[in-house]
Amino acid sequence: MHVKKLCLVDCVDKQFSLLYFISSRAILTVLYITYLLREFYILEKVLVAGGAGYIGSHVQKQLLDEGFKVIVYDDLSSGDIVNVLPGAEFIQANILDKDKLNNVMKDGVDAVIHLAAKKAVGESMVNPSLYAENNISGSINILNAMVENQVKYIVFSSSAAVYGMPQYCPIDEKHPINPINYYGYTKLAIEDNMRWFSQLGKLNYAALRYFNAVGYDADGAIRGKERNPQNLMPIIMEAATGKREKLSIFGNDYDTPDGTCVRDYVHVSDLAKAHTLALKYLMNKNTSFAVNLGTGRGTSVQEIVDATEKVIGKKLNYDFAPRRPGDPAKLTANADLAHQLLGWSPQYTNIEEIIQTVWNLEI
Ligand code: UFG
Repeated sequence: MHVKKLCLVDCVDKQFSLLYFISSRAILTVLYITYLLREFYILEKVLVAGGAGYIGSHVQKQLLDEGFKVIVYDDLSSGDIVNVLPGAEFIQANILDKDKLNNVMKDGVDAVIHLAAKKAVGESMVNPSLYAENNISGSINILNAMVENQVKYIVFSSSAAVYGMPQYCPIDEKHPINPINYYGYTKLAIEDNMRWFSQLGKLNYAALRYFNAVGYDADGAIRGKERNPQNLMPIIMEAATGKREKLSIFGNDYDTPDGTCVRDYVHVSDLAKAHTLALKYLMNKNTSFAVNLGTGRGTSVQEIVDATEKVIGKKLNYDFAPRRPGDPAKLTANADLAHQLLGWSPQYTNIEEIIQTVWNLEI
């Protein structure tokens, strides 16, 4: 009798351990599958500071397309409300507003993509205080609000301007860092602060050093144009549409094949894609990094003008003017690191195709 009882207890015990074994395996399997599916069902909420601006709005679109929840945080000083897409929450505020930043992050933000900055190189040299306040103080406010609310990830819109005069081309991330204008210095100052915050265990960052951003969303979803543009492509478009009398090409006596400056023009949608890749990398790998974003291909100002004439089917009104101070003859990127770390490769490789995406806004 006693032996029978013992056998029964033993049997029940075995069944329980079997049940326990199966259920713990099932839980582990579910957890593992959830982890694997994380890539496909991302519901993280991302605050995009400067999300109504030229590059920011394309980043916003990429995030929405990939299923992120998006809060566009923009004071509309240079951004445009038409760039805020259905599906994104919009907050009109400045990054100097510490309370606002805190309140937004308190509501549960998982990551920040920070593109809110003044970016006119010339203006930064005559009004450095404006750039110190907007770019540096504003960014510190963002970092502090992140720390306060335990937001761990930031993708930052940096620039090739941190390198200064190129000592060799294409420029890789090992190139000396030595900005030659105050705008470039503000980007470096923010990178430095992010590195410290990261070393102190407060957050992880990705600094994306853009080369020359061009183009517009090929689907035509982003249509807001920059006010008072300072860059080559929007100026060419103004000359093409008669909004501006002519384009002046700054210098045709550089040591380049046609005498005009050579730059690395990268499509804005390719840049946008790098932001979501960087965000996922940060979330999965818990590490910080800085990478170049460019195509590695150089195109001269004259080549851009010639390609534009082909795309728009008419002659552009342009002349040659003296060199613009601080312009290097050639600036191209080595973006191998972005490819290695993020699997990023620019999809737009044809300059006429890129220009067409800009011209589409005018026709
Ligand atoms: N250019 C002209 N005429 C114009 C405007 C520009 O000839 O009216 C020329 C410039 O001299 C330069 C080229 O076009 O050779 C591109 O000039 P942009 O002003 O469009 O761009 P930059 O190369 O000077 O700078 C841009 C960004 C910076 C960034 C840099 C990194 O504006 O923020 O790319 O490569 F740091």
